[in-house]
Amino acid sequence: MVHWLLLVVKVIAGTSDCDLYNNVIAPALGATTNATRCCDGSTSICTKDGRITKLKLDGLDLVGFIPPELAQITLLDSLDLSENNFCAQPIPDLGGLVNLKSFVAGNSYLSGSLSPWISKLVNLETLEIQENNLNGTVAELGQLTNLKNVSLNSNSFTGTVPQFNQSALQTLDLGLNYFDASDLSWISNLTSLTVLNMDGIPIKGPIPSQVFQIQSLQELYYPIAKLLVKFQQISRN
Ligand SMILES: *[C@@H]1O[C@H](CO)[C@@H](O)[C@H](O)[C@H]1NC(C)=O
Ligand SMILES: *[C@@H]1O[C@H](CO)[C@@H](O)[C@H](O)[C@H]1NC(C)=O
Ligand SMILES: *[C@@H]1O[C@H](CO)[C@@H](O)[C@H](O)[C@H]1NC(C)=O
Ligand SMILES: *[C@@H]1O[C@H](CO)[C@@H](O)[C@H](O)[C@H]1NC(C)=O
Ligand SMILES: *[C@@H]1O[C@H](CO)[C@@H](O)[C@H](O)[C@H]1NC(C)=O
Repeated sequence: MVHWLLLVVKVIAGTSDCDLYNNVIAPALGATTNATRCCDGSTSICTKDGRITKLKLDGLDLVGFIPPELAQITLLDSLDLSENNFCAQPIPDLGGLVNLKSFVAGNSYLSGSLSPWISKLVNLETLEIQENNLNGTVAELGQLTNLKNVSLNSNSFTGTVPQFNQSALQTLDLGLNYFDASDLSWISNLTSLTVLNMDGIPIKGPIPSQVFQIQSLQELYYPIAKLLVKFQQISRN
């Protein structure tokens, strides 16, 4: 009995983030860099006790899949999987990454939905998942009250536009999706928004007056009569 208990303690102590990454996550992704090098800052960074806080795996032409075990790297602060080729694989439930501040996975041939697990990433500040084939609704993003920069461009998202934290959001790119943007009355309260892209979402009629009430807005991209119109604020009063 005592021996059995000691064995369990040893197994748990040996299961560091780096072991999990090397044995499970990297082989699934098709990455060849092991987490022993993750401390050098070039690909990813781990803390001294073997806990990984950053994974920067962009532009490696990875052709595997994102394994659900990635959600066990719970101290992960920054995850970059952009510019890979995940062959229309879905993103698994990464809701365990409660410390994640930056999730970047643009142009990586990802498909499927982010719902409902995305709502657990309560510390997320940056979400850049443009140019994939992601679908479903993303209203849950409104629960992520720390979001500052969001790019959803060129996916197949549907449903209403999320109602973001009105003082936190700085840049919002909704372009080339199927959002229902018929009620944007809340948008005038986005007090920190500097860039808004609504090109290529199904909107009828003129630009809602609320858009021009965003005091901080500097750049607006908006479709009018099949033209993309870029407005740039040159002065305010
Ligand atoms: C990475 O780690 C795994 C598991 O420890 C090992 O099998 C593999 O040979 C290592 N790969 C490299 C490139 O060091
Ligand atoms: C989203 O895409 C996946 C995979 O392409 C598909 O199986 C699913 O039916 C789509 N869901 C919606 C809501 O369109
Ligand atoms: C958000 O975007 C703005 C404008 O591009 C930039 O200045 C800021 O550093 C970004 N913030 C984060 C958390 O990435
Ligand atoms: C919204 O963002 C502001 C500025 O980042 C922050 O101070 C505030 O706590 C956030 N609101 C909520 C409800 O979290
Ligand atoms: C915008 O903010 C004002 C002041 O905080 C509030 O009274 C109003 O209800 C808000 N409007 C929307 C559409 O959220």
